[in-house]
Amino acid sequence: MQKIWIKETKNLVNKYVNLFGFVTNIRDHGKIIFIDLKDRSGIIQCVIDQNNNKFSQFKLLKPFSVIKVSGLIKDRPAHLANPHLETGKIELAIDNFDILSLSETLPFDLDGDGYDLDEALRLKFRYLDLRRDRLQKNLRRRHEFLLFLRNFLDAYGFIEIETPILTKSTPEGARDYVVPSRLYPGNFYALPQSPQQYKQLLMVSGIERYFQIARCFRDEDPRMDRQPEFTQLDIEMSYVTKEDILSFIEKMFVEAITNLYPHKKITKIPFPRLTYKEAIEIYGSDKPDLRINNNDNDELAFVFIVDFPMFEWDQKNNKWDAMHHPFTQPILPNGEYNKEEILKLLDKNPELLFSEQYDLVLNGFEIGGGSIRTTDKDILLKVFEVLGYNKDDIADKFKHLLEAFSFGVPPHGGIAPGIDRILMILENEKSIREVIAFPKTGEGRDYMMDAPSEISKEQLAELKIRIIN
Ligand code: AMO
Repeated sequence: MQKIWIKETKNLVNKYVNLFGFVTNIRDHGKIIFIDLKDRSGIIQCVIDQNNNKFSQFKLLKPFSVIKVSGLIKDRPAHLANPHLETGKIELAIDNFDILSLSETLPFDLDGDGYDLDEALRLKFRYLDLRRDRLQKNLRRRHEFLLFLRNFLDAYGFIEIETPILTKSTPEGARDYVVPSRLYPGNFYALPQSPQQYKQLLMVSGIERYFQIARCFRDEDPRMDRQPEFTQLDIEMSYVTKEDILSFIEKMFVEAITNLYPHKKITKIPFPRLTYKEAIEIYGSDKPDLRINNNDNDELAFVFIVDFPMFEWDQKNNKWDAMHHPFTQPILPNGEYNKEEILKLLDKNPELLFSEQYDLVLNGFEIGGGSIRTTDKDILLKVFEVLGYNKDDIADKFKHLLEAFSFGVPPHGGIAPGIDRILMILENEKSIREVIAFPKTGEGRDYMMDAPSEISKEQLAELKIRIIN
């Protein structure tokens, strides 16, 4: 690639270069025009004077036009240097230029952080909003963070495996997004609320250490920390205990932050632990904010919440719900595992059972959840029954898993940190929308693509779907 990054020009004084980028900040002094040329790496002042035979054409430029400029990089006279700019001691004397694309006036200003602008407008023109320095930084930091996690996990023998997006409903507690099938009219795929069952099946396949930067889909009302589609660092491991998983995850986050956010201070290492009961009794929340100095943007208070009850009562539907999900291993009130005793309690007093679930909380946000899984078919079946599934439901929804567990299943467990929430906190943002390239609005819309939207009569006919008003 021949393109020179603009930030590299400070080492290219007296060299003739070709630069590409957006024109920003045009200062027309009549006989001489200054512009700032911007690419992803930085800004450089470029200057053209009236002796240039394309001077009049240059005058037509509007901010954010895309140009190629050629010329010599020169030292600026000392008194004209700009100490605020990485390239402030130099400028490019324009010899020639090509206007590659003219720009209309932008619908909003890109100079500031953009927080004061109408968010719907920002999202409608998201591709412009993303030119903003703050969002460019957020995207780059997200990339660096994910790259670090990938390399970290790779070093420990994890392999990244993609799992299907067109799949079947899995019970993670939210509503599914469904996709109609053309080949099987009246049948639907569901988009995964998480790759939970696939990653467990990969343990049956002998993968032992799996991860995936996984997109998850949940039809919930969006909030500042919730999007209909979001990203998890999905992890599953065989032959591990809860302690193994918690200490490994702690090490991963401590190393990521030490490397990528060295100015941040982790309140306490090892991460403190609270039982679910303690968290509720002391803080009135299962995601307490344990920062010591709440005004400090750079403090990170991690805490593991452990010892969750296995079930919670769903008042509205008059039934038991799994506190985490049905695949979590139930344990006795004394913290022990005894199959016969657990089966007895599942029959008579499910409310007394605890589980091998853990959540990771950071500055008052739940940034991850996981558990050791049930691999015993009898217990798993009983859990499904407690949750109100009848025999037919179980056969229909979970037969593959129960069957898989009859062919030799390594004990396993895992966790799934929510990438968007973590980045939001690390970048001191108020909403996960600020760390996602193309998020939905608070009402779940994509104003840029105009989605969701109607589909054509032909598409509906092909899917054998009729819309009822
Ligand atoms: P859970 O449902 O707890 O666990 O989700 C794990 C983490 O994902 C993040 N998260 C979200 N982030 C943004 N928008 C959302 N709508 C959203 N929903 C969840 C949170 C949460 O802690 N399969 C299990 C994991 C496991 O057991 O291994 C699961 O999905 O940070």
